[in-house]
Formats: sequence, C-alpha cells, structure tokens
Amino acid sequence: MNITFLDACYSKKTPFTPVWYMRQAGRYLPEYRKLKESYSIIDIIKTPELASKVALQPIDILGVDAAILFADIMTPLLGIGVDLDIVESIGPVIKNPIASLSHVEKLRLLQPTQDIPYLLQTISILRNELKEKVPLIGFSAAPFTLASYLIEGKPTRDFIKTKSFMYNNKNAWELLMEKLSDLIIVYLKSQVRAGVQALQLFDSWVGALSENDYKEYVLPHTKKIFESLTSENIPLIHFGTNTAGFLTSFSDVDCNVISIDWRISIEKAWQQIGFKKAIQGNLDPILLLSDFSVIKKHVDEIFSSLPKREGYIFNLGHGVLQQTPVENIKRLTEYVHNKR
Ligand code: CP3
Repeated sequence: MNITFLDACYSKKTPFTPVWYMRQAGRYLPEYRKLKESYSIIDIIKTPELASKVALQPIDILGVDAAILFADIMTPLLGIGVDLDIVESIGPVIKNPIASLSHVEKLRLLQPTQDIPYLLQTISILRNELKEKVPLIGFSAAPFTLASYLIEGKPTRDFIKTKSFMYNNKNAWELLMEKLSDLIIVYLKSQVRAGVQALQLFDSWVGALSENDYKEYVLPHTKKIFESLTSENIPLIHFGTNTAGFLTSFSDVDCNVISIDWRISIEKAWQQIGFKKAIQGNLDPILLLSDFSVIKKHVDEIFSSLPKREGYIFNLGHGVLQQTPVENIKRLTEYVHNKR
C-alpha cells in the first residue's frame, strides 16, 4: 500500500510528494457525469455500490495518493432528518432554515448505525477495494460551515443571516455550535470505526469572520472536536479558505495538517502555522483551466518556496472545478510525483 499521504501528514520523509484533490470525484470526470444522468447526488451517496465506485474513479484515472469518501457535508444532516436537497449547480438547499433558539433545541444527535448505515457500508466497501492501493480519508464540515447552510438555507456570498444570528443570538449560537460539534464528533468517530484512515474537517466558509470573532464564536468548538479525535490515532486535517488573515488562530487546534487556499504563500503560511504541523495545498483550482505551461510555472513556484519537503501534501486550495480538463489534472499529478 502507498502510505506516502499518511507519512506526510505526520511530517515523515516520503519518496515523493503525495497528491490528492478536494472534489477529485465529481463532475469534471465523464464517468461521474454519466452516472449523474440516472442518479441524483443523494441517490449516489445513499447507494454504497455507487458511492464507492465514484470514490474509486479518481484513484484509477489520476493516480492520486489518497481516496476521499464520497458523501457531502450535508450527509449527517440528512441522517438526522433535516429536510434538504442538493440542487444541481447551486448546492445544498434547506427547506426550513434555522431562525430561533427553539429551532436549534429541536436538532437531535446522530445515531450513525441507524441514521447513515449506507455511509458506513460505503467505507467498508472502499477499504476492501483500496487494500493494496491508497488510504481512505473521511470528512465532515466544521460547525461554522454547517451552521451557515442551516441558517442561510442556501449557499451565500456574504453570510448576512449567519453572522447576524451569531452576533445577536449568542445563546442560540452557542447551543447550535455545541450540538453540531457533538454531532460531528459522533459522525467522524463512526467513520473511523468503519475504517477511514485520516479525517479532514472542512471549514470552507469560516474565512468570512474576523480573527477576534473566529476566536470567540468558533475556535473553542473546533478545538473540542479535534481534542476528542486525537485518541483515534489517525491523521487529522483542518481545512479552510480565506484563512490567511488568522492562520495562527486557525491552526491552534490539535491536528496534524493545515490545509490552506492560494491567497497566502506556503512559505508564509508555514511560519504562522509552525513547523510541527504538516501543510496541504495550495494551487488555485482556476489554474487547471490553463495551458499546462502555466500550471507548471505555478507548481514550480510552490515547490521553490517550500521551506522543507517533509510534511507537504500537494492539493488545490479548494475543490476541483467542473470545467477542469481531465488531461490537465492527470498531467499535474504526474508532474508533482516526478518533482525533485
Ligand atoms: O471527491 C470528493 O471530494 C468527495 C466528495 C465531496 C462532495 N462534497 C460531493 C459533491 C466532498 C468532500 C464534498 C464536501 C462539500 N460539500 C463541501 C466542503 C468542501 C468545499 O468545497 O468547500 C461543501 C461546502 C459542500 C456543499 C456543496 N455540495 C456544494 C457547495 C456543492 C456544489 C454545488 C454545485 O453544483 O456546484 C455541493 C454538491 C456536490 N457535492 C457535488 C459533489 C460531487 C456536485 C454536484 C453533483 O454532483 O450533483
């Protein structure tokens, strides 16, 4: 088995730089688009044979060094009965967004074996299929990112409802963060029990906050999540975008790897994160729509700015875009693997 990804998470020396991509399974792949003609994304997630097939596609097609469970950040909310849909080209849409303390009080805890048996089954199929290949990453959204969908009801650019709720309903916000943290811990532990070998917490939208607000309203909860996962003894990754302004606080959690976007150089980021943690990122996904010579130039820049090679996992700063030519991402993977 290729364990370069796991070794790099623990900042151990690896024979080459491991590579994987957020959203490596998805609509840029013709094999995935074909399946989407017959099934919705929720159908796929709820059918272990399909979800595992989709998660394996990029392993064979791209030659990446890790697989990621095929699910969505909404899966645990589906599990506890939140009425939602994942709408093509929009994203998660929630029927009754949260607007009050009484609504928060009604949210219940997840019971993985009853609520999401399909997900646990997908993990076990994947582990079996990946035996000789690469490790499997499990994931969840972080409380802020989940809360933003629950409160806005749909994707947003400005997070007006989320932040207003946070500023003006402190008790309800705290209860929501506590409930989501407990749910996330149960959810991630169930994934580990089912067989995932690393975990990534996606706080995709937390960069909407100032550093002080991050520390006051979010960090204590994220800290608690990571603290309760350290006993699992697998690598833990903390991902966010737009975190350049508060990276020191963002990395002040018990995790092994910090994943950054493209808005800060790895060199600067690593100084702020501290060299005890590994780093993941940070190519701009939009670059993958360019000619390969442009991609190559930016990858070379990343590598020449790296203070050290061990503890570096190559990834994009955010997910692979739908318009990405498969050939570019294949070549990119090969290029990084051969980089000396
Ligand atoms: O390969 C993988 O990375 C695994 C699968 C995965 C999906 N969603 C499947 C998916 C993962 C890791 C996610 C996480 C996710 N989902 C995040 C965190 C990562 C990030 O990008 O910040 C977020 C914020 C979501 C919420 C969400 N779900 C969005 C914003 C969208 C995109 C809307 C669109 O159509 O552009 C989705 C839908 C979704 N989740 C798709 C996939 C493959 C695409 C739509 C589809 O296939 O129907």
